[in-house]
Amino acid sequence: MFRRSGGGWNGSGRENGTFISDRMKAIQNIIKNRILSEEDINSLLRVSGYDQHLLFEWSAQVKKAHVGNKVYFRGLIEFSNCCARDCLYCGIRKSNKSAQRYNLSDVEIIEAACFALDHQYASIVIQSGEICNRYFTRRIERLLHKIHRKTNNMLRVTLSVGEHDKETYRRWFEAGAQRYLLRIETSNSNLYTRIHPNDGRHSFQKRLQALLNLKDIGYQTGTGVMIGLPFQTYEDLAADILFMRDINIDMVGMGPYIGHSATPLWEHRHLLLTPDERFDLTLRMIAVLRLVRPEINIAAATALQAIDKMGREKALKVGANVIMPNITPGPYRNNYKLYDNKPCTDENADDCTSCLTARIAMTGNETGLGEWGDSAFYRLRRVGEVGNI
Ligand code: 5AD
Ligand code: FES
Repeated sequence: MFRRSGGGWNGSGRENGTFISDRMKAIQNIIKNRILSEEDINSLLRVSGYDQHLLFEWSAQVKKAHVGNKVYFRGLIEFSNCCARDCLYCGIRKSNKSAQRYNLSDVEIIEAACFALDHQYASIVIQSGEICNRYFTRRIERLLHKIHRKTNNMLRVTLSVGEHDKETYRRWFEAGAQRYLLRIETSNSNLYTRIHPNDGRHSFQKRLQALLNLKDIGYQTGTGVMIGLPFQTYEDLAADILFMRDINIDMVGMGPYIGHSATPLWEHRHLLLTPDERFDLTLRMIAVLRLVRPEINIAAATALQAIDKMGREKALKVGANVIMPNITPGPYRNNYKLYDNKPCTDENADDCTSCLTARIAMTGNETGLGEWGDSAFYRLRRVGEVGNI
């Protein structure tokens, strides 16, 4: 866990700035050679103050050199919060009886997709809780066809609807989903077990296999982890970065863990880093991941915004290049409460678009409106220029 003394939390970085500065120089040399060991990653995740500033400068340069300064928009449609799983951290888990459940109609989803197209988002993410049955599979398949028909195949569509069998993933791919997001949540199988119930429905191995199946089918595949979970260590996070590197992931969305008072994990909140510490740690995770995998797409997670109003913009500065404005129709947006203080629930999507464009310009980035913004890593992977598994 994030120990407040000893080798974990209060370790080398905070106590011995000189050591870290020397270390930082050594690491800069290693970065030039593009080889970052687990130990190096561990050190970078612990830096603070000026060293953290150096890390962020470096990751910003790497981002600019490899994926440029464009920020791509993904209109996020959270179409249903009905979920058959019971993750111990998540506000829409099936056992949370206080969650008000909703399920948008196809017409409402398609309207939101058209809104994205009209506002030049060029890409949407269709997200929901996890439901596994034939009706759901068929519904998503038909919906994909309808969206592409209605928008003249102008949108890239990402699915984020959980763990399903390979045949289902294949059907959705053939129906026009080009990308899929499935967070591993943590690459430590023991930690995975601690944050999910032991009910036969939550298996780390199955999760991993689902991710590999998505890649095998040909999706631009995205994953991610939560940062600052109870029981988590820096070593776990360093291993998460190596995990994402080694499975050759194309896209990553990762954000700070934020407690939800109606979930079982809430009782462990005394173990957490402060919100500000989790925030900074998330920025360092993004920065280090950018160094390790310069060509992937990295999203500035909404959860950052729950801690700091400018959280996503700060992430864009240090390595993220994707933003996911929420375009779920207003009346439903309040009910997709994965965690407490989830932002942007009162604004309408129009507000989000115009203010985001200005805020992105303030970060020194430009908006990639009208562009699909495919993962450069995916393209390189397809032509065999980067490793595959
Ligand atoms: N804090 C932060 N992120 C959360 N998610 C779910 N619950 C929380 C929480 N309490 C994230 C998970 C999931 C994604 C849709 O939202 O990583 O995969
Ligand atoms: Fe729905 Fe975790 S609670 S997928």
